[in-house]
Amino acid sequence: MKNRSFDKYWYYRDAVQSPDADVIFLRNLYRRLRGRNPKVLREDFCGTFANLCEWVKLGSSYRGVGVDLDHQPLNYGRKNYLSKLKADEQKRIKLIEGDVRGANSQLADIVVAMNFSYFSLHEREDLKTYIKSAHRHLKRNGLFVADCFGGSECMDQITDRTRKRGYWYHWEQANFFPVGNRAKFHIHFKRDGEKIRKRVFTYDWRMWSIPELRDLMHEAGFRKTLVYWQDDDDVFRPSEKGEPCASWLAYVVGLK
Ligand SMILES: C[S@@+](CC[C@H](N)C(=O)[O-])C[C@H]1O[C@@H](n2cnc3c(N)ncnc32)[C@H](O)[C@@H]1O
Repeated sequence: MKNRSFDKYWYYRDAVQSPDADVIFLRNLYRRLRGRNPKVLREDFCGTFANLCEWVKLGSSYRGVGVDLDHQPLNYGRKNYLSKLKADEQKRIKLIEGDVRGANSQLADIVVAMNFSYFSLHEREDLKTYIKSAHRHLKRNGLFVADCFGGSECMDQITDRTRKRGYWYHWEQANFFPVGNRAKFHIHFKRDGEKIRKRVFTYDWRMWSIPELRDLMHEAGFRKTLVYWQDDDDVFRPSEKGEPCASWLAYVVGLK
C-alpha cells in the first residue's frame, strides 16, 4: 500500500474531540445558569483551538481567546481550521502563545480547560495558581468549566481499543502510582494496512479528583461549584453523588 502522509492532529480530532457538540454544551450550560447567551470563551490549553473555531460560528457576538504554550498545535490550527473560517469569524479569535497561568487576556464569560489538560499540573500550588488565573480572567458571573475523569479502570494498566473509520484508536494507560495518583497515558493509531504508530501523544498526568478540584475552586474565589455527571444516555446532569463505575466522565463548574 502506498504510504499516505500521517496528520496526527487530524486523527486526534477525529478520535478524541467533538468541538461542535462541546460548544453547544458550553453555551447551553451558561444559558441555564445565567439566563442569557455567553459571548467570550477563553479556551486554556487550547492546542489546535478546534473548539474556538466552532464557538465563533455560533453567531456574530461570539468571540474566543485561546492560550497554549506550544506553537506547533497553534500553527496547525491557524493553517487548517482558522483559514477555513469566514473573515468575520477569523477576526473574533485571538491566540496567545504562553502559559495559562500567566497569559493575560480580555475577560471571558466562560473559561474552559478541556480534555483534562490541567492534569499536567502535578502540584496543588501549581493547579491553584492556574485556577486563580481562570477566576481572574472571568467576568462577573463567569463560569470556569473543567472536565475530569476517573473510575476503577483508571487505577490500572489497560489499553482501550476503539474502531474508527479506516483506523484503530488505542488509549493506553501505561501505569498508575497510587501514592501520588500519577499515571502515564499514550495514544497510538493503527491505520488499516499499516503498522501501528505508537505514542503519537503521551501524557504524564496527576489524576485529580472532583473534591480536590472543587476545594481548589473555592479557595481560588469561586462562590459555588457544580458537578455535571455523564449519565448512561451520554447526557451530563447535575449530581452531588455520581456512581461507582469502571470509568466516568464529568464536568466540574466553578461559578464566579
Ligand atoms: C491534551 S492537549 C489538549 C488540547 C485541547 N485542549 C483538547 O481539548 O484536545 C494539552 C495542551 O495543553 C498545552 N499545555 C500544557 N501545559 C500548558 C500550560 N502550562 N500553559 C499553556 N498550555 C499548556 C499543551 O501544549 C497541549 O497543546
